Amino acid sequence: MVEIDQVFVQAAEHRPKPSVTIAEGIPLIDLSLINYQQDQESPSSSSVYSNLIEEIGRACKEWGFFQVINHKVPLEKRQRIEVAAKEFFGLSLEEKVKVRRDEKNVLGYFEAEHTKNVRDWKEVYDFNVQQPTFIPPSDSDNDDINSQFQWDNRWPLNPPHFREACEDYAQEVEKLAYKLMELIALSLGLEANRFRGFFKHNTSNIRLNHYPPCPYPHLALGLGRHKDTGVLTVLNQDDVGGLQVRRKSDGEWITVKPIPNSFIINVGDMIQVWSNDAYESVEHRVMVNSERDRYSIPFFLKPALYTDVEPLQELTNHNNPPKYKPVNWGKFRISRMTSNFTKSSVENLQI
Ligand code: SIN
Ligand code: FE2
Repeated sequence: MVEIDQVFVQAAEHRPKPSVTIAEGIPLIDLSLINYQQDQESPSSSSVYSNLIEEIGRACKEWGFFQVINHKVPLEKRQRIEVAAKEFFGLSLEEKVKVRRDEKNVLGYFEAEHTKNVRDWKEVYDFNVQQPTFIPPSDSDNDDINSQFQWDNRWPLNPPHFREACEDYAQEVEKLAYKLMELIALSLGLEANRFRGFFKHNTSNIRLNHYPPCPYPHLALGLGRHKDTGVLTVLNQDDVGGLQVRRKSDGEWITVKPIPNSFIINVGDMIQVWSNDAYESVEHRVMVNSERDRYSIPFFLKPALYTDVEPLQELTNHNNPPKYKPVNWGKFRISRMTSNFTKSSVENLQI
């Protein structure tokens, strides 16, 4: 067998162990009760919701992760983007690099992603859900954001329905993300729409991931350990499996069992800051295998570039003072992105 390129090799302590049987997985939550038609401004906080809210609060606190079923995202839209992703990644490299991301534009195709300086065994395609991205007026605080980067979607011509499939799916998952933010707000004792204002000029994006079979699954990872930088992630994974979550109680890596038509939800760094550590962003990674291609589609809910995120006043007091300095989302995001997760972790913002 050809030797593995060293750029993919994880340090011994970060390599996946032969899998352990899972006694307890991340919580599974049934969203049958949610209703997108309901008035977003004043959703029900009545007793029908209270069990659900409590379940979500517990999952965020104990795991930072949970899986949802009966979420009402239409299956047909989900299947269309899954097919479009497979078709796109099935094109020749020459075709795919026509929409490759570059030094300036952060969106598009990329085949050489690194996490913490080790190359991930995968290829990706990124697009922003809302276009154009609102760029804050130039001042010293925003200059990095304005001069260094562009946020323009780059749509491939093939497969022909790619863009439509992506945009239709994005709309549906975005609705689910806002509904989950209402439930999370209620679980923290806040008004349901407390977070809504942060997303007017959101920088949310969707990433299509393709993890090809890897002859060295004991040495490489599809995606190295990391915490999600944004607010909330809504992940669609296929039936292959490989996502592992670091269990808070003992630091063990727990494999998330694929459940058809479910989504995996996790808290990002910005919820950790807003909630003053009531809910923490949790490490996760992706194992590869030598036989099957794996595809996943995360939606990352992210605020506007100009947003300053800090512990919410309602959640801090004399006995629980703010643990974080205000963080400018645009700057934090860029510092995370340009350092491939080695710099600017939320811990560095602690007071
Ligand atoms: C991610 O953590 O962004 C993706 C996880 C996955 O592919 O399952
Ligand atoms: Fe992630």
